[in-house]
Amino acid sequence: MNEGSRTKLNRTPEWLALGKHREEFGQTHLRQLFEENPGRGAGYTLRVGDLHIDYSKHLVTDETLQLLRELAAATGVAELREAMFRGEKINTTEDRAVLHTALRAPADAVVEVDGENVVPGVHAVLDKMAAFCEQIRSGAWTGYTGKRIRNVVNVGIGGSDLGPAMAYEALRAFADRGLTVRFVSNVDGADLHEAVRDLDPAETLFIIASKTFTTIETITNATSARGWLLAGLGGDQAAVARHFVALSTNAEKVTEFGIDPANMFEFWDWVGGRYSFDSAIGLSLMIAIGPGAFRDLLAGFHLMDQHFRTAPAEENAPLLMGLLGIWYGAFFDAQSHAVLPYSHYLSRFTAYLQQLDMESNGKSVDRDGNPVDWQTGPVVWGTPGTNGQHAYYQLIHQGTKVIPADFIGFAKPVAELEAAPAAQHDLLMANFFAQTQALAFGKTADEVRAEGAPESLVPHKTFHGNHPTTTILATELTPGVLGQLIALYEHKVFVQGAVWNIDSFDQWGVELGKVLAKRVEPALTEGADVPGLDASTKALVDTYRKLRGR
Ligand code: F6P
Repeated sequence: MNEGSRTKLNRTPEWLALGKHREEFGQTHLRQLFEENPGRGAGYTLRVGDLHIDYSKHLVTDETLQLLRELAAATGVAELREAMFRGEKINTTEDRAVLHTALRAPADAVVEVDGENVVPGVHAVLDKMAAFCEQIRSGAWTGYTGKRIRNVVNVGIGGSDLGPAMAYEALRAFADRGLTVRFVSNVDGADLHEAVRDLDPAETLFIIASKTFTTIETITNATSARGWLLAGLGGDQAAVARHFVALSTNAEKVTEFGIDPANMFEFWDWVGGRYSFDSAIGLSLMIAIGPGAFRDLLAGFHLMDQHFRTAPAEENAPLLMGLLGIWYGAFFDAQSHAVLPYSHYLSRFTAYLQQLDMESNGKSVDRDGNPVDWQTGPVVWGTPGTNGQHAYYQLIHQGTKVIPADFIGFAKPVAELEAAPAAQHDLLMANFFAQTQALAFGKTADEVRAEGAPESLVPHKTFHGNHPTTTILATELTPGVLGQLIALYEHKVFVQGAVWNIDSFDQWGVELGKVLAKRVEPALTEGADVPGLDASTKALVDTYRKLRGR
């Protein structure tokens, strides 16, 4: 596709047709759409793998969906999707292929980058990870003093932390409860301090996860961890080889740090950081849940990959979810998107999606470097549902903002106390269904009056409704289902980036802060005069030094 000659998105006939349709749509209410089409609930539902995806409570008609699909066709989503799966270098600003889908391809698949099939290498690393996990889980791998490893601490940040940390929480019920697994990411020394303060170094394995192995936060924490370990084990450098492994693309830096390259689990530059969790970056999770469950997770990802690649547009869940987001951002001025899991195990899911979505699509120039004049990625936010109900749902129900939301729930609980009331999970899910119902249909002033509310309170107790939601329902939160869910969002983000004509796979926006932090540091530690420091920052640095007692 010649991106350079692509017509500006908001001047395409498909976009203009959507704009006209939006005007006609006006204030159409979901109450009306359901009245007109009683089959809408069942009809506007997709089934993909284990996921039931209900999109009936969206501000769309058949015509809207058709126009959105025409936009996708006109902007070349399918062509870019094929280019991604084929291993073409669609991350143009970094001249890289985007092949997280190869990480979960079956062993006999062929995916070529620069003429080389990458799948055998992927499976070789998976096998090496599995063998290592078995050694740790069985106790065959011992620490420097001969003690069994009982604690695993993953040190990484961003994509080298959020995926395994989220999935470890999500799949705790599948984890070996005899192992303590922790995640350290923040360069605030408190994070590592709290993670190791009750651990025995002789029983602790550090997994240093960094694609580049140059990320300052991770290398600083890894260096502190190495110091803590050596201090606890008598100072013999040989201990490092038994207690440190690395997950990286950079063998040179790993060796420089003192980790035996034999204990490095490799991945590749065609895996973006935020798309890396099913690569070697998942080692901590694999140790926790075991290689079999990890492979189930990969199979879930792959199922969704296949769906995304082959399902017709009308039934393609990531395409649909991506297009719905574009509809609200462009034509309803929605600025944010809430993801609200009704599963305590998914407490880190939205935090994970924040990097996936916002680092990918938080862009304001198109692939050719021209400023875009349409909305790109939304602010993604949310926490587990019932807690949110008692905090910020008020604003979603009765505030002034349009906030499309995804509700994710499960028919069966993964775990609860035997003493729990039989209906405890039903209570959770009753809230789940009640919320999307209230958001969609609200409560009219007449209904409020009929309940006998005084006239002065009627406006306060009226719910306008018409708040769009997607409901994603599965039987149970298993590794396979988690894989399906994550891949669903990965591809949704892809669709949006493709339509918006932005590069969803670079992240230049995080660089400036890194460079400035390096420049400011000597001012904090040594009081060095940093040339070009602005007056505000200089005054703040001076205050900081005084408060710090320097
Ligand atoms: O935040 C920028 C970023 O480059 C992310 O994209 C990445 O996931 C994270 O830093 C960590 O990078 P690395 O794995 O190289 O340490």
